[in-house]
Amino acid sequence: DSRAIAHHSSSDDTNAENAAELRQQLERRAYEVWISEIMLQQTRVAVVIDYWKRWMASWPTIHSLAAAEPDAVLAAWRGLGYYSRATRIHEAAKLVCGDPDMGGLLPVGAEELAAKVPGVGRYTAGAISAIVFGRAAPMVDGNVLRVLSRQLGLFGDVKADKSVIDLLWAAADGLVKAVVKDSGEDGDVESPGVQVSDRPGRWGQALMELGSTICTPKPNCAACPISSSCRAYAEGLELARRKGLVP
Ligand code: ADE
Repeated sequence: DSRAIAHHSSSDDTNAENAAELRQQLERRAYEVWISEIMLQQTRVAVVIDYWKRWMASWPTIHSLAAAEPDAVLAAWRGLGYYSRATRIHEAAKLVCGDPDMGGLLPVGAEELAAKVPGVGRYTAGAISAIVFGRAAPMVDGNVLRVLSRQLGLFGDVKADKSVIDLLWAAADGLVKAVVKDSGEDGDVESPGVQVSDRPGRWGQALMELGSTICTPKPNCAACPISSSCRAYAEGLELARRKGLVP
């Protein structure tokens, strides 16, 4: 039936247009999250907001950033410190936009992001991949290292011991994959029409938030929503019990 075929192909066109538009929106967010996460690595959220807004007003897309004057980029970073980060972001934008294989698109997967975008390490790569593209990628900052080491009852040096850090990254990887699996979503946005999962990004950011508000160096365990699964908390209680401080 020719009408059915015509109908079919026009809806394919619409799907393709929607997929292209979705990808474009995601790319824009990927650029935004990339800049914000690099800024947040050295500065508090309250301070970053204005810098980030001014940056996005000057260079709303990765393409506009790639075409920017180096001096203007450095000027926009003035006050944030670690100026090599601004230069590296600028160089990376030029590379992503100039490389015919990349075509101005940030990669979707965390491993590819870290491998192909200079200055993007595994934390930033995980954040972009999970928050923007809905991939089940771990994002582990210093706060999350503390939260997970307490949950697991690990007493290594989470700031310096590489084997402990790698173990916690592996734990975070397993956790975020379990979160997505439990939800019944696959977290894959590459096939058109597939919904982007917000779970990996929400999960990762919730762990960071817990670490910066409750599971701080001096934790507020009474307010913690996951104290019941916390090994360190359980062992602390056990210690208090042995000392006769709690029944
Ligand atoms: N610190 C840096 N980036 C963050 C994010 N995306 N969510 C929560 N805390 C953060």
